[in-house]
Amino acid sequence: MNEEVSYGYRKVSPWEKTRLVLGHFETIADRYDLADALLSFGLHFFWRRVALERLNLKNGDRVLDLCGGTGDFAILAARKVEPAGKVVVCDISRAMIVAGRQKAFRAQLERSIVWVQGDAENMSFSDNSFDAIIVGYGIRNFVFLKRGFQEIHRVLRDGGKFLALEFSIPRAKWIRNIYHLYSFHLLPRAGKIITGTAEPFHYLAESIRVFPSPEDVQNELAADGFKNTAFERLTNGIAVLYTGVKDSAPQSGRVL
Ligand SMILES: C[S@@+](CC[C@H](N)C(=O)[O-])C[C@H]1O[C@@H](n2cnc3c(N)ncnc32)[C@H](O)[C@@H]1O
Repeated sequence: MNEEVSYGYRKVSPWEKTRLVLGHFETIADRYDLADALLSFGLHFFWRRVALERLNLKNGDRVLDLCGGTGDFAILAARKVEPAGKVVVCDISRAMIVAGRQKAFRAQLERSIVWVQGDAENMSFSDNSFDAIIVGYGIRNFVFLKRGFQEIHRVLRDGGKFLALEFSIPRAKWIRNIYHLYSFHLLPRAGKIITGTAEPFHYLAESIRVFPSPEDVQNELAADGFKNTAFERLTNGIAVLYTGVKDSAPQSGRVL
């Protein structure tokens, strides 16, 4: 297959995109949390809180934190679903998982969080395994958005809720101008100081620009079988929350 996909502004083979993205997270895993907090000016704490509120988790829920990385969402979710529930973190990067497990241990949540190394677009979980699935800053890295959404739909139970938090472009022109300046010039430099490499931050800035608009992502969710799809812009659209529900029940129609 010689199909090419976007890796930031470049076109690469699907296999190459996975290799490059994985390489970034393996390299910056130890510094990921610090970079996340500093480079988002702490905004990610607020965005994560809003995201968790939208999921309405309760004790006993089985939650998948997909592309879960160092487990920030998993830790927040575990506190909502314990003691009866469980959170599974699935991530392709072993280094991110290792960093996350240490954090979960420090938070005394090692019994509530299970860590699995795997590919979001080809998961090993059975159909209908989870009550809720959350993806934080992960769908932009999918090689094929459709394949990722179809896998998420498959492993979610009927009635279960899917939520993705992803970066996007701010709406107001003046914020957009500052944002472009920040993400193409300051971000890679600051990222290099924090993590020792600028490349993941160049990729971050470019990949946000080539990622589909919130309207297109919502349409893709609907095309992949999700119902009640919606998106909500946060902080003028710098981040967007996408939601959808799996509802495989036949639509009530005319009975002959
Ligand atoms: C930007 S980090 C986000 C981590 C975490 N969700 C958070 O909110 O901080 C993206 C994560 O997605 C993971 N990832 C990228 N592609 C993946 C894939 N195909 N399957 C599973 N994980 C993937 C990376 O290893 C990385 O840990």
